[in-house]
This record gives sequence, structure tokens and C-alpha cells, in this order.
Amino acid sequence: MVGEKKGTEQQDLIRLENLVKIYGSGAVRVKGLKGINLTIKRGEFAAIMGHSGSGKSTLMNIMGCLDRPTEGHYYLDGTDMAELSSDQLSAVRNLKIGFVFQSFNLISRTSALKNVELPMVYARIPRQKREARARELLERVGLEARITHMPNELSGGQRQRVAIARALANEPPLILADEPTGNLDTAASVEIMELFSRIHQAGATVVVVTHEENIAAFTQRIIRFSDGQIISDERKVPVCF
Ligand SMILES: Nc1ncnc2c1ncn2[C@@H]1O[C@H](COP(=O)(O)OP(=O)(O)OP(=O)(O)O)[C@@H](O)[C@H]1O
Ligand SMILES: [Mg+2]
Repeated sequence: MVGEKKGTEQQDLIRLENLVKIYGSGAVRVKGLKGINLTIKRGEFAAIMGHSGSGKSTLMNIMGCLDRPTEGHYYLDGTDMAELSSDQLSAVRNLKIGFVFQSFNLISRTSALKNVELPMVYARIPRQKREARARELLERVGLEARITHMPNELSGGQRQRVAIARALANEPPLILADEPTGNLDTAASVEIMELFSRIHQAGATVVVVTHEENIAAFTQRIIRFSDGQIISDERKVPVCF
């Protein structure tokens, strides 16, 4: 039967096959990814590391369905993303993926509550239900006292917690975070990583890009990039605090 998932395949939330990304054309072509093969199982907590320009964001944007590869295949939950229309990809982004950015990407002049409600508006969740869930999510990230605050009335760490609550809105199985602690001090960074650990423990698959070893230490697997290629991939015992 088409679409049937069996055995080990069922455990693979992400499967990347020979993924190539080329930016530009002609003489200004840049190879962002040079043939990536990678599998991330359901329930994993992984870090992607590598120097600036090595292709981490390029990969995250493809895994987050914000961009498409030039060559190769991306299977999310067993479905080849290349076969989906842009409308179908938007639905996948809304329901299956929560994306967290370094610069938070909250909507300014819009309360924390409304920011968290937004993915549920797109998913056509009725107003009362989405408001109740947004409150619950803000409580879960420790911001119950900041519900009506605008992004510019929040600290960096608090803004990122709103962004994480928003990423969780439709209970996606996959959370992708591209340098989520890049704009935060050490204390706020630790809080954010503890939050990702709790989200992972609650059942989500979490992939975090970071430059910092102490941030990657919160995860269970470190995938290292160099020049558009994976140079190492290690699973390890997580650090406990
Ligand atoms: N939109 C684009 N157009 C052209 N080239 C791009 C584009 N986005 C990225 N690149 C190039 O692709 C390569 C990989 O970039 P990418 O942003 O994935 O790196 P990164 O590992 O995320 O780096 P950083 O740690 O600085 O965020 C770089 O050489 C970059 O210049
Ligand atoms: Mg990047």
C-alpha cells in the first residue's frame, strides 16, 4: 500500500538522501550542501555544529520546509517533500514543524499571547480553544505573568521562550532551532536549553544548531559540518544538571 510505513522506517522522522543545495547560477554558484545523507529518529535530541558558512542554516531551512534542495530527497515522516505542492508544504510547516530562530522572529506590537496563537489561527483552531492553549503554553515556558506584554517589553530570553511556545502551538513532532541561544547570555541560554530538554522528554524530536560546545552538551547526538558536508556524527550520554 502506498504510504505504508514499516519497521525501522517508522522510527525515522527525518531521512535525507544525497542532499545538494546550490545557490545562484553560472559563475556565482555556491554549493551550500554537497551531498548530505542523514537520518534522525523519532525522539532524538541532536545538535548540529560547524564553522560559519558550513551549511547548517541551509540544512535547517530544508528540514524546516522553508527551502527546497537542488538535488536529493528529504523524507519527513516517510513522505518525500519534493512531491508536495507549496500549499501542502505550508501545511506541513504549520502542523509538523516548530521552527525557532536566533532572532526570535516575533511579530512586534502583538502580545505574547497573540504571537503564540498565530500558528493555531492558520490551523483554523477556534478562538477560545487557541487562546486557552496559548495561555497554557506560555505558562509551560514560565511566562504566565507576561501574557499581555509586547515583544519589546520582554528580555531576550523571554522573547525566545515566547517563540518556543509559538513553535509548540500545534504540537508538532519536530522542533528545529537555528542558534536559539545565539543572542542570549549564558544564564538565559541554559534556561532555553533546559526548556528544549523538557520538550524532548515530553516526546518531541529536537534539532538545535549551535556554535557552543556547552550548548551542544545538552543534546544526545552531535553532527558536525564542514564545507557543506558532515564530518562526524556522534551519539553520547547527555550531561545531567
Ligand atoms: N541565499 C543565499 N544565496 C547565496 N548563497 C548563500 C545563501 N544562503 C547561504 N549561502 C551560502 O551557502 C553557504 C552555507 O551558508 P549557511 O547559511 O548554511 O551557513 P551556516 O553554517 O548556517 O553559517 P553561520 O554559522 O554563519 O550561520 C555559505 O557559503 C553561504 O555564503
Ligand atoms: Mg546559520
